[in-house]
Amino acid sequence: MERRTFIKGIAAGSGLLLASTATFTSIARADDDEPVHHLENRANPSTLEKKHVPVLEAPSTVKKGEWFTVNVKVGYLIEHPSKENHWIENIELRIDQWKLAETEYEVGALSAPWAEFKIRLNHDAVLKARAECNIHGTWESDPVQIKVT
Ligand SMILES: [Fe+2]
Repeated sequence: MERRTFIKGIAAGSGLLLASTATFTSIARADDDEPVHHLENRANPSTLEKKHVPVLEAPSTVKKGEWFTVNVKVGYLIEHPSKENHWIENIELRIDQWKLAETEYEVGALSAPWAEFKIRLNHDAVLKARAECNIHGTWESDPVQIKVT
């Protein structure tokens, strides 16, 4: 199967309503070669977890085809530092294992550990966020279920 056809199938299967046909190629399979950290100890999270696990904020219910905002903040209990030598380099928004969008911060100190995405859906979906720290690796949020009415 050609890659473009495969990607179209995934986009349709995920319930994603794309803004234009040109964006079909922007959905890329995630690079899952690197380890991804999750919140392991909910009862007693470590300082690393508090500062690195991203939290994804989105409405639980949206209207089919209407744009809505998804905010991602890093970390979920303590804001991650933004210093010249330690910062969040990358924040991704995902549907299942598929990367929908990402933002990159090339330098520290000048970029907040947040991102805002505007998306729309035509079916229920599960969203996740990933954040990459330049020192402490990649961290994934809890999944967030979005219901489309
Ligand atoms: Fe860090």
